[in-house]
This record gives sequence, structure tokens and C-alpha cells, in this order.
Amino acid sequence: MNTSVLPYRRLVAALFGTLKVMQMYGRRHDATVDAVRNLGEAIHAAADEGETRIGVRGKRVQVNGRTMRASECGSLALTFLASEWTKRGIECVRMLPDVTAHDVEEFSILFIELDLTSPEPAQRLDAAVRDAGCHGITIEAARVEEHDPIVLEERRATAMRSYLRGLRAFKAVLRCDGLEDRKTLRRARRAVQGIVDRFMEDETAVLALAQIQGHDRKLFRHSLNVCIHALLIGQRLGLSRRQLGELGLAALFHDLGKTADEATEQHPARGALMILKESSTHEGMLKAAIAAYEHHAGAGLPTLEHAPHLVSRIVAIADCYEALTRRETEDDAEPRAPHEALNLMQRRAGTLFDPVLLKVFVNALGLYPVGALVQLSTGEVAIVAEGPRGDRPDLPQVKILLTATGRLEAEQAIDLAETLDDGQPVRHITRTLEPHEVFGSVGEYVSAI
Ligand SMILES: [Fe+2]
Ligand SMILES: [Fe+2]
Repeated sequence: MNTSVLPYRRLVAALFGTLKVMQMYGRRHDATVDAVRNLGEAIHAAADEGETRIGVRGKRVQVNGRTMRASECGSLALTFLASEWTKRGIECVRMLPDVTAHDVEEFSILFIELDLTSPEPAQRLDAAVRDAGCHGITIEAARVEEHDPIVLEERRATAMRSYLRGLRAFKAVLRCDGLEDRKTLRRARRAVQGIVDRFMEDETAVLALAQIQGHDRKLFRHSLNVCIHALLIGQRLGLSRRQLGELGLAALFHDLGKTADEATEQHPARGALMILKESSTHEGMLKAAIAAYEHHAGAGLPTLEHAPHLVSRIVAIADCYEALTRRETEDDAEPRAPHEALNLMQRRAGTLFDPVLLKVFVNALGLYPVGALVQLSTGEVAIVAEGPRGDRPDLPQVKILLTATGRLEAEQAIDLAETLDDGQPVRHITRTLEPHEVFGSVGEYVSAI
């Protein structure tokens, strides 16, 4: 995987430079011509599958979905870009593979000269760029309010659709008993990319789906949930959209060997062979084969002479967490509460699991994952709505669903990190609850999330 951040840094610097120079000198000046040429090169160098996306979420500048840090690009450039994007109501500027120097120049001048007093500047900029004949650049307007309930509702629905599409695609792979059918593989790949895109848009909505305990807790659900948790680690590591796609696919197929044979010890090698046999030419699938082969390497199945691949190490963590927290898992063991599972895994950091990746996972998930139902010390029942904001993984953001007397509460949002004068938290979690202890149906559960 190429995780180099250099082209992204160069792009941020070039974009900052060009817009500044354009502001000062206009388009005809020598400095502007140089800056535009430099920006054009930087855009191509930063392309991920041909496309370069520069977006702003909140106050963070993202290149191809990766948040750029002040330590990498300098806060001057990042603050400038974030504020210019926000002023124009832009969520993302998308540079397509065929972007030309002419497009870059036109975009920069139109961007600077845009009238900010009229409504919908992003939409007007997009139209102006198109009218100027730049087909290599599109401007996406920021959506309404991030926390708008309608927007959140829509995101949940799209996340759910992506999840179900993923389940169907993977079921199709299992039905065909492998990957012989190219169409099935393509479908799975598209489904995973769909999940990656939803994930990059709103990871909370996707993570919540992995909490749903359906009636069909079989291999495909296990695999899809492993995929989602692996993506969480990948996202925190700053992997690109393409890399996340490869990781997601590898996670989805990690237990493929189990479909052909019940002999558990054989499934890593068998899975890897099944993948290699049909799809060795695709680089992403090569990683899937490696992950299938290596995902139990920490437990010596098989013993390796080298350290397992990064993708295998990520899948191993997501796989174990998923297996420990599910009922009717591959081991048929009693399910553990998320925090128990993570505690158990932390004791194996350095032997079974890569300690750094495990830390990334625990921090990202919090001890109580989004969507987990919890009982509070006050007797109230709550649902974990967001990970912890502070450094206490046991104190996430929750929404109270039931009062201590069992009355329905109007989803009061609470940060468990809130403390009393003596520094003790006002409320803390006493135990996790199974959805059936609180809700009647999966539907009811999903709508509470
Ligand atoms: Fe496995
Ligand atoms: Fe597994």
C-alpha cells in the first residue's frame, strides 16, 4: 500500500499558493502561470484512482478522504482552505482524471472572483466552471446542517441499504461456492466500495449497523461485520478510499475457506487458494488472499517466518472482536460485552494482536461501541451515540432511552465524561444490555440509533 502523504501535502501547498497568487496578481502574471502549472501537476500526483478530491468537513481539510494535519501542511494553508471552502458552501472539489491546466486556471480565477453575497455560491461556482468548458472539475455543495435530523435519517437509510447490498453480494459469493463467477466478484467489490463510501461519509451510521443482532448470524454477517470493523481501523490509519476498498474486500473474504470445508484448521490455506485460483491478477485480491492465509497467524495457524501483512493484522483484530461479541459465532462461545471482549484482547496485545493497531481500534471504538445498549449507574437505559470525546474510553456520548422507572425518555443526549465537583463522573456504565432486553424487534432498535 502506498500510504505516502507527500503528494497530498504538495497539493495543499500548491492550492494555497495558487489561490493566494491569483488573489494578488490575477491570471496573467508570471507567478500565476507558474503556480497554476505546479497545481496541475500536484493534482495528478495526488490522484487516487485518477481522481483527486479536496473537501472540508467541519474545520478539517481532507484530501481524498484523508484529514490533513497542521503538522503536515502548516496551519496557515489549512485554515485558509477550510475558511474559503466554508465561505462558498463547498463540501468537496473533485478533480477528474482528464483535468487540464486550462481547467485548473479557470477554476482558480472563478473561485477567487465568485460573488459571495448571492445565495448558493457552491452551486453557482459549479455552473460557472462548467460554462467555462472545464469538464475535469466538479464542485459539490455542502449539505445542510450536519446534525439535521432529516440528513441523519437519510444517511442511516443509505448506510442500511449499503449494508444489505453487502450482505446480498456476499451471500451470492457463498451460493456460487467461491469466486468462479467474475460477475459475483465484481458485485462484491462494488458493494464493499459502497460501504467504504458510506463509511467515509458517516462512520457512526455504518458502525451502528454492525451492532444489529439479526436472526441470521451466519458466516456472511460475521464477514460483513469484520469488514466494517476493519474499515474503522483503516480509516483511523488514514488509508485512502482505494486502500480501504482493498482492506474491506480482504476482511469480507477472510473466512471464505470455511464455505468449502468444515475443517477449521484448513480454512486459512483453503480460503487463500480459492481466492488466488480465480482472481490472482487483481492486486486487491492478492491482499485478500494474504489476509485469508494469515488472519489466524497470531495463533500459529499457520506459523509464519515473517510478520503478517498489515491487512492481515487488521483483519485478525476485527475478526476476534466480532467473534467474541457475537452469539452463535464460529466458536459457538458465549458472547462477551464489547468492553469485556476488548479487555480480553488487550491482554493478548503483542502476542495474538499487533499492540499499536489494537490501541487504534480500542480508541476508535471506545470500550462501548456506537449502538451498544447500556445500563447507567442511575438506573437509566441508554444507547451509545458517539465515541468518547475525552481520553476515557469507558465514558462515551450516550442518548438516554428509558428513565430509571422504565419510562420512555425523549432521547436526551448526555456526555458521560461530565463530572461532579469531586471529579467523579455524574453517571457511568454498569453493564451492557442485549437489544431483546430493551426492544421487541430489530426495526425498533435500528430506529433508536
Ligand atoms: Fe477465520
Ligand atoms: Fe472469522
